Amino acid sequence: MDTRPIGVFDSGIGGLTVVKEIMKILPYEDIVYFGDTARVPYGSKSKETITKFAKQNSRFLLSKDVKAIVIACNTASALALEELNSEFDVPIIGVIKPGASAAVRATKTGRVGIIGTEGTVNSRAYEKMIRRLFKEVEIYALPCPLFVPLVEEGWAEKEVSYMIAREYLEPFKEFDVDTLVLGCTHYPILTNVIGKIMGDGVTLINPAEETAIELKSILFENGLQNTSKRNAEYSYYVSDNPDKFKRVGGNFLNREIENITKIDIEK
Ligand code: SIN
Repeated sequence: MDTRPIGVFDSGIGGLTVVKEIMKILPYEDIVYFGDTARVPYGSKSKETITKFAKQNSRFLLSKDVKAIVIACNTASALALEELNSEFDVPIIGVIKPGASAAVRATKTGRVGIIGTEGTVNSRAYEKMIRRLFKEVEIYALPCPLFVPLVEEGWAEKEVSYMIAREYLEPFKEFDVDTLVLGCTHYPILTNVIGKIMGDGVTLINPAEETAIELKSILFENGLQNTSKRNAEYSYYVSDNPDKFKRVGGNFLNREIENITKIDIEK
């Protein structure tokens, strides 16, 4: 039994898709969330920069006495997970391995698509992990960099999102995948849009669901779960624009975001 909170970080608002899943399956766990809204997007930045940001974010969460860290950001999971695990003592998990396992379980034809940021796609982290689990798989990956700003703007349901998604995904449909990994924290918020374009025959994988399940196992294996059955507490920190985070993030979570603080992550 350990009543310390779980730390979650992301480049911005999108990581709330992971928080939402953690809230569902671990309802008694307190969560401290950091969204790096001043430096979003991470997806087009170098490994060196992402690793520096990820370390700063982890140090901040550890200053809040977290017992485990979830890297909700796919780009940071792909580029910085190993270094974080070698530098910090608490369990740290990313979203790539859980997302890859879910894709391998879902595909029937062995044709899997991955969409993500440039950083995630170029790292080939999903591809390597999926191949480790299923050698015969055929993988097609596509960066969709404009999805992140659409979501951060709160425009997921606007016509412009459909227009941009059509531009990216219509040509991609020729690869005839039956499973598509939403390899960026922001993309599950575009599930309706992406699903309509890809069609019913394509299973969309939200790595956030599987990540929450993996987190639960890790907490139980290490005796870190909080078994006190009281309402969990959630605190949110951002590096910029708390009002926008509250407004747009509240819509994603379907609940009011209280307890939000702006911090200077570079200090
Ligand atoms: C980004 O900051 O570019 C997107 C976050 C992610 O890769 O999940």
